[in-house]
Amino acid sequence: MSFISVDKISKQFLIPKKKQGFWGSVQALFSTRHESKMAVNQISFAIERGEMIGFIGPNGAGKSTTIKMLTGILVPTSGEIKVNGKIPIKHREEMAADIGVVFGQRTQLWWDLPLIESFQLLRYIYKIPALQFHKNLAFLTDLLDVGEFMNTPVRQLSLGQRMRADLLAALLHNPSVLFLDEPTIGLDAIAKERIRELLVSINKEKHVTVLLTTHDMIDIEKTCNRMIIIDKGNKVYDGGIDEIRANYGRTRTLVVDFKQFPHLPAIDGVTSVSQNGLRFEIQFEKNKISASQLVSLISKHNDLMDLTVQEPEIEAIIKEIYNNPAIKKAGRSHETAI
Ligand SMILES: Nc1ncnc2c1ncn2[C@@H]1O[C@H](COP(=O)(O)OP(=O)(O)OP(=O)(O)O)[C@@H](O)[C@H]1O
Ligand SMILES: [Mg+2]
Repeated sequence: MSFISVDKISKQFLIPKKKQGFWGSVQALFSTRHESKMAVNQISFAIERGEMIGFIGPNGAGKSTTIKMLTGILVPTSGEIKVNGKIPIKHREEMAADIGVVFGQRTQLWWDLPLIESFQLLRYIYKIPALQFHKNLAFLTDLLDVGEFMNTPVRQLSLGQRMRADLLAALLHNPSVLFLDEPTIGLDAIAKERIRELLVSINKEKHVTVLLTTHDMIDIEKTCNRMIIIDKGNKVYDGGIDEIRANYGRTRTLVVDFKQFPHLPAIDGVTSVSQNGLRFEIQFEKNKISASQLVSLISKHNDLMDLTVQEPEIEAIIKEIYNNPAIKKAGRSHETAI
């Protein structure tokens, strides 16, 4: 039996059927007619203790719904979940003692209290023995570097500081699993990088199993070696990140703002060009030509205002998975039996 086993779970939401306009909304309050929405559709996976896994998919794919089922916040419509031998919804109290959760979009800290007081309150909620509490607090304060703002009310913290404080709160009671729903959302590049490094050390030093949801592929590349991709409630990939990287990583997009309408020569390695005013998106194969070679060729004939190189989006990766059976196969071969 795996440490976390998820066997064909589904979650169906019933949403009141609504007609257009104000009266439609009023009618919906009294209507018994519902539309059903399959947010998660027969997903299965198994995770071993100590793994660190990226869980990704476009908006509305069912990531948060899955995390909520894993943590016992939502009941699956069907299917079975076991986390460290326990069924989340049945063993809620024992589960709470064994898992840590961070929802990047909201905090579990008390907004008006100095940070240290939130930790004190959590100590009582989780019934953490004094010695363990002080030891953990000291270790994590150092690791997450939150000492400087321990006496600051949470509302005055920057988003990056608050996220580190939330991570500390989630780890105070020594959970064996950490569920993270978009812990890097809204952070700038430096703060994101810091959170990634911290997650890697937490996984290593505290041997915590981590399931990480994000929209940012770089979060996954920097922290995980396995990822699960879902799309419209279905699992579309479960496997190594290298297999995906080798395939999706073929193209990049150079976005250039020109001073005047440009003259673009035919360049080997460029796969498509799209234009919006003086902004051009030039897609290129990165093993045929590098971004800097491309820029030097283009700037020979034109004056550039600005340029950026875009990494492929998760949507583009999913498209490639659907179109490329080899990637699908690579994913399947990593699937563990439950
Ligand atoms: N409580 C709810 N009632 C009805 N529908 C819901 C509810 N929660 C989620 N949904 C729907 O289920 C689907 C999956 O939502 P979910 O929040 O799990 O997606 P997600 O992958 O976390 O997306 P995002 O990247 O935007 O956070 C969406 O279509 C959403 O509208
Ligand atoms: Mg979500």
